[in-house]
Amino acid sequence: MSKEYKIGWLPGDGVGVDVLDACKIVLDKLPLKAEYIHGDVGWEFWCKEGDALPIRTIEMLKNVDAAMFGAITSKPVKQAEQELIPELQGKGLTYRSPIVRMRQIFDLYTCLRPCKAYEGNPLNYRDGIDIVVFRENTEDMYCGVEFNPVPAELRDLLNQLSKNFSPFAKLNLDEYAISCKINTKKGSDRIIRAGFEYARKHKRKKVTIIHKANVIRATEGLFLDTAKEVAKDYPEIEMDDANVDAITMWLLKNPFNYDVLVCPNMFGDIVSDLGAQLVGGLGFGCSGNIGLKIGIFEPSHGSAPKYAGQYKVNPIATILSAKLMLDYLGEEELGKEVERAVAEVIKEGKVRTYDMGGTSSTIDMAKAIAERL
Ligand code: IPM
Ligand code: MG
Repeated sequence: MSKEYKIGWLPGDGVGVDVLDACKIVLDKLPLKAEYIHGDVGWEFWCKEGDALPIRTIEMLKNVDAAMFGAITSKPVKQAEQELIPELQGKGLTYRSPIVRMRQIFDLYTCLRPCKAYEGNPLNYRDGIDIVVFRENTEDMYCGVEFNPVPAELRDLLNQLSKNFSPFAKLNLDEYAISCKINTKKGSDRIIRAGFEYARKHKRKKVTIIHKANVIRATEGLFLDTAKEVAKDYPEIEMDDANVDAITMWLLKNPFNYDVLVCPNMFGDIVSDLGAQLVGGLGFGCSGNIGLKIGIFEPSHGSAPKYAGQYKVNPIATILSAKLMLDYLGEEELGKEVERAVAEVIKEGKVRTYDMGGTSSTIDMAKAIAERL
């Protein structure tokens, strides 16, 4: 019997609640001693408290071994402001995605997104696909340094520094916005290393670095140069690289050419959705946000508010995310068991949610998986 774990439980809202209920049915079937600690997070806390990720939840997460997260509704900034309770309106509160904040607060720099085509899944693009996406998870376009409107001193500084920027000098400050893309050597090094370490541990043959270094020379160039250095520490693993636009075509043309992909944050966001679609769509897109102190595991789909509470969506993405959590906790045997049970249910094909062409509910699917444990 394993040690007793503390697991943060963050359903969020929308179908996040449905899929976490399903996930619990599976986890409860395992010989895993765990205390599940609920955390408030989601749209209702934004509306009532002006914070979708209240401080009490952040404090709770400081004291757990790992957490499962469902999904959260996000709305455009202006609409979010209007949905605040009247007492909080006009106070300059800005809605920011809680999952992006958790990644930054807890320095969850590895986003791990395996994309595996399980045998018998009618939604597989091709049978046999088995790709693992490593997405940098804390910096790049997600660093949160953004300006709208642009402060005059920043405009002046940029005009001094760059003549390429001069076309914007003719615009009024409120006619453009700036979002910074910031990448660091340390941030690039650690995600690339995570990809290579995974390849070594799981006997994967190739790591492909995804970038756009031909155009975005400073930050993407840094990412690619860092990869070339890191690769020297892993001589047994082949490394190649691809421009992000080209990889979207090549992944469709021949997905079997790819093994482990390592991407900067924004490109990883995009490429991992493509990867999920190759193996059945977002109902199969599992993910782990992993740092040195905690891992937070979540399906990569959104909150799908129109399906909330209908127990209709596919919980497999979440159940496979729980498998990633078990691996992270060092309970790899239990992780294997969960994956085996999922694979068996998919192969048998009797229990299928609507996305797979069936009529089974979220809970039917979870029970079918749990019965095989
Ligand atoms: C993801 C999602 C998030 C992201 C959203 C919900 C903020 O798309 O986890 O891939 O952009 O990272
Ligand atoms: Mg995404």
